[in-house]
Amino acid sequence: MSNVRNIAILVGSLRKESFNRKVAQNLIELAPKNLKLSIVEIGDLPLYNQDLDDNNQAPAQWARFRDELRNVHGVLFVTPEYNRSVPAPLKNAIDVGSRPYGKSVWDKKPGGVISVSPSPIGGFGANHHLRQSLVFLNVPVLQQPEAYIGGVDKLLDASGKLVDKTREFVSKYLETYAQWVEKHAVPA
Ligand code: FNR
Repeated sequence: MSNVRNIAILVGSLRKESFNRKVAQNLIELAPKNLKLSIVEIGDLPLYNQDLDDNNQAPAQWARFRDELRNVHGVLFVTPEYNRSVPAPLKNAIDVGSRPYGKSVWDKKPGGVISVSPSPIGGFGANHHLRQSLVFLNVPVLQQPEAYIGGVDKLLDASGKLVDKTREFVSKYLETYAQWVEKHAVPA
């Protein structure tokens, strides 16, 4: 495992003080040496409208997003649950990346899903709705360990660092994900 793999993190919340973004920052810090994680922003993406692709009028933000995703080896989704499903900005990003037809940026990229919520259920609904889209998009998603981080409001210290047990869990998750990426690596 000597190659460094570039991994995009998509954060499903646009909130400034987002717990999910804080967890994502912890992931960046805790990543094993062979993974370079960075957040790819989704908050500026105009809502997907197929007419714009069909008429060669794709907004610059879509092009930026598609380019950034095309150049990574894998993608980690860190998302809250909105009304038992995937927040709209993240679903929009998935749709933007999936088109034009035949040019999806997601195809075969090894993926991971981490859902994060103050609620004890840990965003289970969002986690699995997201997996449904990823099956269609041909993203091999890490199955185990599953990552539902519930009660997150009690798992971060004052500086935004995950507390010990969750830190340990997340580190192990990343080690397993790194192996998953190697197993499913495609040229980026
Ligand atoms: C929520 N929240 C929420 N939480 C949950 O566990 N299940 C849910 O279905 C929902 N639904 C929901 C809908 C909407 C529109 C909002 C704004 C919020 C609460 C949510 O988990 C909480 O606001 C988190 O703090 C959101 O994540 P970030 O922004 O902290 O990363």
